[in-house]
Amino acid sequence: MDTVEQFRSKRDEAVNYLSQQIGDFKPEYLVILGTGLGQLAEEIDLTVSIDYDKIPHFPVSTVESHHGRLLFGHLGEKPVVAMQGRFHYYEGYTMQEIAFPVRVARNLGVQTLIVSNACGGLNPNFQRGDIMLINDHINFLGDNPLIGPNDDELGPRFPDMSEPYTERLIETAENVALDLSIKMHEGVYLAVSGPTLETKAEYRYMRQLGADVVGMSTVPEVIAAVHMGLEVLGISVITDECFPDALEPVSLDDVLEAAGMAEPKMTQVIIGVLERL
Ligand code: HPA
Repeated sequence: MDTVEQFRSKRDEAVNYLSQQIGDFKPEYLVILGTGLGQLAEEIDLTVSIDYDKIPHFPVSTVESHHGRLLFGHLGEKPVVAMQGRFHYYEGYTMQEIAFPVRVARNLGVQTLIVSNACGGLNPNFQRGDIMLINDHINFLGDNPLIGPNDDELGPRFPDMSEPYTERLIETAENVALDLSIKMHEGVYLAVSGPTLETKAEYRYMRQLGADVVGMSTVPEVIAAVHMGLEVLGISVITDECFPDALEPVSLDDVLEAAGMAEPKMTQVIIGVLERL
């Protein structure tokens, strides 16, 4: 693993490169677009788009359904940087690599993370194509981006996790959904490494633990963000129903189709929140 100084110099190189590209544009919000949820990008009033492979030390995404670029521009009249394409632990990236873009974004001026994902619904009240605000998480990845030497410049050794998802943002999002008559749940996201989907026994167990949805992303980025004192809003799209007594096989196509169904709702909520902040 790199030392604190090596990590810092990699971040600085990426930040310097991006600063040169974006000039005086100063993003305040980082939006991470999950699997099948890239359409939100179309709504951004684009200032500049930068491919991941041009950015020093940036990981490059390997999943077909993900593009791989940073989009700088305005969304809901707020200056944002959006990651079109994210990095998953199951692809073989280290936690440090997954956290890297979040840390770089913070150094560019970002103060809030808005993160989306596709996930399986464990709560029997949830249906495929529904959306859920994340109000808490369970980390079952078996890893954590903060393992290793702590960079005190980023945040504390033992970050508090009593409110990883910012209550003020949750309330704002709830009000937006209510005003737009969008059905939206709230609940707990449990993160696993994947890439296997879960067995019936695992779904039963996760539900008993208090999880409402399960997915393979988000938690590393949220931990990195909370470590640095960023505010966080998380939105999940339920792409399949994980009910152990009525489980159907799921394909990536099913996931992408359901993500496509739910995406307009998620997009409206995110834009609505940005407009109100
Ligand atoms: N499990 C884990 N991750 C997922 C699922 C699931 O059922 N659906 C979409 N991402």
